[in-house]
Amino acid sequence: MSIFLVYRGFRDPEGEGMNVYIKSVGAYTPKRRVSNDELSKTMDTSDEWIKSHTGIEARHVAAEGITTSDMAVEAAKVALERAGLSAEDLDMIILTTASPDFIGFPSTSCIVQDKIGAKNAGAFDLTAGCTGFIYAVDNAKNMILAGTAKNVLVVGSEALTKISNMQDRDTAVLFGDGAGAVIVSASENEESSIEHAILKADGSGAEVLMRKYGGIKYPFVDGKTTFNDMALYMDGRAVYSFAVKVNTELIKGLMERTNLTIDDIEWIVPHQANIRILQATAKRLKVPVEKFYFNLMEYANTSSASIPIALNEMYEKGKLKRGNRILLTGFGAGLTYGGTIIKW
Ligand code: ACO
Repeated sequence: MSIFLVYRGFRDPEGEGMNVYIKSVGAYTPKRRVSNDELSKTMDTSDEWIKSHTGIEARHVAAEGITTSDMAVEAAKVALERAGLSAEDLDMIILTTASPDFIGFPSTSCIVQDKIGAKNAGAFDLTAGCTGFIYAVDNAKNMILAGTAKNVLVVGSEALTKISNMQDRDTAVLFGDGAGAVIVSASENEESSIEHAILKADGSGAEVLMRKYGGIKYPFVDGKTTFNDMALYMDGRAVYSFAVKVNTELIKGLMERTNLTIDDIEWIVPHQANIRILQATAKRLKVPVEKFYFNLMEYANTSSASIPIALNEMYEKGKLKRGNRILLTGFGAGLTYGGTIIKW
């Protein structure tokens, strides 16, 4: 038995029988709900256009002064309570966001670490656009398998309405705010497990989805750069084609690599961007669309928070049963894409 194992009760890297699973889930969404009709009072758009082009009916918007870390803290508290753990039981916090409290540094995860009192935990942010949650869960799993951590908090949190240009109807109608969190833990039990992931990127599409100004390449220039230059920019059509292609590829790829069929999967929980992307994916794969879980109608696109917010809703509705297989897929800025199969 290694000293490491004795000291922290972690896995002996040589040891066997280690399994990693999602122990609990939690979420936080702001109370303020903005319907399409409300949005169309201040912007040249309509409920009919937004619903028919995206499936979105509303989004939740963080109040002034509420940041990404504040929402992450609320989601984390729920996940910790449901896991029966305290913040001090955490060894690592991985936070994924496209709308951090600060540009570049410090990481939002460190703000969360302090706010929840996770005094034994390391913390870092992971940037992979809307695929962040999928990347983060796989990182958490591998840290546990490597013996670096035993309990990892993974949080996706976004304040996207605060980085949106509210005069740009091409993007402003699509995004919402919120946070979702899971506790990833070691287990001796095989009933629940994070099974297999595919993580990919295609950086040739870096500039189709971005916050252009305010970084090193396109710096903020006093008197020249406006808030709208620093807001979220998206070439919607390019992202749409990419999303349908990679979602299809990911689901096929995961089935091939694991020798599973779609009948072995209880639910596909995709990044909640646009219902048409998911309908087109279902059609290409000849998978009934009912297999996909959607809640983008209520929350719009919450980027890296969308999958854990959906998982939390499914958990609260009793749709997640231990031992059932679910497949998560994501795509987003980078461009990145990734999918994972989990036995809940
Ligand atoms: N309200 C009313 N009209 C609008 C709006 C709006 N909010 N937005 C665009 N239009 C108009 C356009 O001006 C255009 O008018 P025109 O024909 O007179 O020029 C018309 O509607 C059609 O516009 P398109 O851009 O061709 O609409 P499209 O059918 O492609 O839908 C959409 C646009 C919804 C953005 C789609 O391309 C899409 O969903 N793309 C993927 C977006 C996505 O998934 N992004 C997130 C991924 S990554 C992440 O989550 C951060």
